[in-house]
Amino acid sequence: MQKLKEEIGEILAPLVEMDAEQVLDLLEIPPEPDYGDLAFPCFTLARTMKKPPPVIAHNLAQQLADRKGWLWDKAEPRGPYLNFYIAPKAYSQEVLKKVWAEKAEFGHTNLGHGANVPIDYSSPNIAKPFGVGHIRSTVIGHSLYLIYRALGYNSIGINHLGDWGTQFGKLIVAFKHWGDQSELKDNPVDYLYRLYVQFHQQAEEDPALDDEARLWFKKLESGDEEAVSYWEHFRKLSLETYASIYGRLGIEFEYYHGESHYNQMLERVIELVQEQGIARESEGALIIDLEPYNLPPVMLRKKDGATLYITRDLAAAIYRKETFDFARSLYVVGAEQTLHFQQLFKVLELLGFEWASRCAHVPFGMIRFKEGRMSTRAGKIILLEEVLERAVEMAREIIEEKNPDLKDKESAAEAVGLGAVRFGDLSNDRVKNIEFDWEKVLDFSGETAAYIQYAHARICSIIRKTESETPAWDDQAALLLEMDEEITLVKTLARLPEKIIDSAESYKPSILARYLIDVAREFNRFYHNCPVLNSAPEIKHGRLLLIDATRQVLANGLGLLGIIAPEEM
Ligand code: ARG
Repeated sequence: MQKLKEEIGEILAPLVEMDAEQVLDLLEIPPEPDYGDLAFPCFTLARTMKKPPPVIAHNLAQQLADRKGWLWDKAEPRGPYLNFYIAPKAYSQEVLKKVWAEKAEFGHTNLGHGANVPIDYSSPNIAKPFGVGHIRSTVIGHSLYLIYRALGYNSIGINHLGDWGTQFGKLIVAFKHWGDQSELKDNPVDYLYRLYVQFHQQAEEDPALDDEARLWFKKLESGDEEAVSYWEHFRKLSLETYASIYGRLGIEFEYYHGESHYNQMLERVIELVQEQGIARESEGALIIDLEPYNLPPVMLRKKDGATLYITRDLAAAIYRKETFDFARSLYVVGAEQTLHFQQLFKVLELLGFEWASRCAHVPFGMIRFKEGRMSTRAGKIILLEEVLERAVEMAREIIEEKNPDLKDKESAAEAVGLGAVRFGDLSNDRVKNIEFDWEKVLDFSGETAAYIQYAHARICSIIRKTESETPAWDDQAALLLEMDEEITLVKTLARLPEKIIDSAESYKPSILARYLIDVAREFNRFYHNCPVLNSAPEIKHGRLLLIDATRQVLANGLGLLGIIAPEEM
């Protein structure tokens, strides 16, 4: 697409008295395939040329009447647009050659020039279950992490663990009263949550427990050795559990900087706020009024001296700026915290940090798991491990049924199962609430990861039947594609780079996910109508190059969603 744009830029620039760069920036993709492949809008010229845009488009078309480029065939006016149509053969050759040469790098660009982009995602709370909101944050955050990497940014994954707060006082008390070391060891995340629930139940009857918990949290805050050692123990065991889930999902964080990491920086934040004169004392508490901005006030310190979630987030934001000097700083957190982030960013702005505008909350809606085969445990909590296990189990059953002779069923089941969970989440616009329907997410013919993975595996199997692993490059063979299905597929493949950029700019991996469905669909349409292995030798080679490029695009795209594309399934 880039080369095509450049060609058009070069030819149009002298005619419209712009430089090629400016023309390039104006080019758009027409809404309908009938309107050509790239459109040059004439609106901006109307002023300088003092003519209505349709007249300009018409005149330009006349000037180009008997010209064509290597990659484009003709230019036609349509209303205020001048539409360019590609030269199918040369264009196909160009696209396939690019994919062939760039392989796993196809679609990647160096927009970021290594700039840092910290991404705060997953961020579960110790002693509270890894809930469905955290699943979404994990899946969306990780995909954005990979997408930004592919665009030449230095993504930095930060797990802002909820590892500080009054719940630790409660946990210490609960553990001292009823705790069991071996249960804690076996299943820390689960067990700590149960202790936490038990604490609340008992405290209803015995309010003295609450006082005890407050005392222990105070001890923890003041560095009491016993309290700290409980806290460290709980934290460490929970982290081990999280690490195993992340490992299974292929996720690594650069930093596990939980809320506790910022404890020593809170004093400074408070000072800063006071120096800037944006806070006031109210009944012993420290408050920032945000009324002029239509936001509720922020409390930074309670009257008992305790700091809050937002105090730690302020410290974290400043720390990230000082440590990473970021191009952007992203927070992948549920939409229910929108207000919190509005307040956070506003306070940063009031502190005079121009970089506040580079911080972005990436919100997402709720996810609901449709019942059916997955039983939730009491308390309406779904644990991530269970979701993953269930998905892999179902994938295993399906594979067993569809392809009983498959050699490595286990890897395939893992890829398909985990892919289903990820894609079920990522293929929906993140701001919408979604329903996760077990029957649908594993449907091999629906809009699922399995559908895309299956197209990929099918291509691998076709290529395996030829002599070579990947077809050799052949300039001539690549010039022979001309069928409608072939060209449409080529055009679709060419879009990967811009889809990756769009996903990054709008923080929506769903754009990439939907696109991959299109690629798989176009591949199926092509394969249905155009034989590959049974076609004439010259055509066969060109088609092999085409499907190999398709395979590459599917693998690259799925990779950026954190989904594995197995070669067989
Ligand atoms: N632990 C929080 C929660 O589960 C999410 C933290 C998000 N990140 C942040 N910097 N506030 O609700």
